[in-house]
Amino acid sequence: MANTKFYVTTPIYYVNAAPHIGHAYTTLLADVLARYHRQQGIPTFFLTGTDEHGQKVQRAAEQQSMTPQQQADQTVGRFQELWQKLSISNDDFIRTTQSRHTRVVQQILQNLFDHGEIYRAEYDGGYCVPCELFFTGRERSGGACRECGRSLEPIRESNYFFRMSAYQAWLIAYIHEHPTFIQPDFRRNETLGFLQQPLNDLCISRPKSRLSWGIELPFDRDFVTYVWFDALVNYISAIGYLADEARFQRWWPASCHLIGKDILTTHTVYWPTMLKAMNLPMPETIFAHGWWLIDDSKMSKSRGNVVNPMELADRYGVDAFRYFLMAEMTLGQDCNFSEQAFIRRYNADLANNLGNLLSRVMKLITSYCQGQVPAATTEVTGEDEQLLRQAVLNAVTRMEECLNQMRLDLGLAAVIGAIREANRYLEKRQPWTLAKQAKADELNTVLYYAIETLRLVSGLLSPIMPAKMMELRQALGFSDGPETQLVFSQLQTWGATAPGQKIGAMISLFPRI
Ligand code: MSP
Repeated sequence: MANTKFYVTTPIYYVNAAPHIGHAYTTLLADVLARYHRQQGIPTFFLTGTDEHGQKVQRAAEQQSMTPQQQADQTVGRFQELWQKLSISNDDFIRTTQSRHTRVVQQILQNLFDHGEIYRAEYDGGYCVPCELFFTGRERSGGACRECGRSLEPIRESNYFFRMSAYQAWLIAYIHEHPTFIQPDFRRNETLGFLQQPLNDLCISRPKSRLSWGIELPFDRDFVTYVWFDALVNYISAIGYLADEARFQRWWPASCHLIGKDILTTHTVYWPTMLKAMNLPMPETIFAHGWWLIDDSKMSKSRGNVVNPMELADRYGVDAFRYFLMAEMTLGQDCNFSEQAFIRRYNADLANNLGNLLSRVMKLITSYCQGQVPAATTEVTGEDEQLLRQAVLNAVTRMEECLNQMRLDLGLAAVIGAIREANRYLEKRQPWTLAKQAKADELNTVLYYAIETLRLVSGLLSPIMPAKMMELRQALGFSDGPETQLVFSQLQTWGATAPGQKIGAMISLFPRI
């Protein structure tokens, strides 16, 4: 199943404020996963977008004296610009105000209503606007939101409810039977813990008198749809549910919904029960990552500690920024962001390690081989060559394993380790001395091994740093485009670089900061 296609999604972002590094992270992660799958020749669909309805957006618009649609139109541009800047390769971008989405939401609601899955009742509880969550009974009693701890706004209004409670027993069993459904494991346990208490039915509407910014209920024009019920549907409306059956069947179920840990319940409880009521298969995996923190606390606009990804990418380069976010965070856990950590890692991994290997190799080839890739000679390959070759091929295997386990940080560490081996190898073999001693066969072999290392590691790093790795390969004279050069199968064979290939002009790939 996993090998026939890959459909990956990000949460769709609220358009109440500009994107920050937390949003950038989820989208980058999805991009990297999509690129690795494409590299392996797996048909891939990568979806992102914006969540434009609801109280939060309506309030932000009021504060700016704009209509919610104006607010959405303005902010969506900030997201789209950022994704372009960060080389995000999404296949589609869905906005929940688009008619291709609103139509599907309405039809789903009508179908569920017709099947008795939706009923009307009095709602008496609390609401958290920042999280757009309802709380009743036991859940409300603390007076604070389960997710963010902020105080709830009391609401008492007639509303429509989805019979979510009817699916509680089914959901618990499903989660137990499908251990990879919710990942990491401790998040699965969190959801199971939540499900130990009786599950309420889900309030899925807001009276227009209270909130007008939403999708009208098809069976009662005095109401709009609750924003989470609307938003979750994006994962199927974007791929043609109820509109283009063949396309929908092509991509659904999603291979991976990437989310932040704060939206675990909506994705692992609301969404599966909605799908079950619609008779649709479950996504394969819902993966929750941790938060980027600043000095151990969450970034937020009100605390004024948000990190602007646009600025960082401008200052240090897009690919270095992409690399840092992927290498620094252990997927699933929280991670502190600091510019010092960024600079430290950049200098250690990119400038002093990878960049250094490239410039050494280019200088040596220019000085001793007339700028042409030399050929290795079997007679002079010894233990050092074997070790380097093994280290690099191990990194290829390790990266593949780590991707399957969603441990990108470890995969990248293996690749960086292989580059370090290559630098050590050059120091040990001393090609500059071999040149003085006129040991041409040995010199050529050493340089070939170093180039071959660069070919393979650039392939492995290309989904993370697409532009920089392209530059690197061009500098080494690989003329074929990214698609042909980077097929994963070519990363599993040693010796594919053609001797005689002319290298380009010297470049400084990652200047030291
Ligand atoms: N609109 C909903 C999602 C609907 S999906 C059907 C939403 N939007 S959001 O804009 O508030 O957040 C989107 C994502 O950004 C969430 O996954 C959230 O966890 C993530 N992040 C927000 N701040 C974050 C950090 N500081 N660090 C990492 N990710 C964080 O929720």
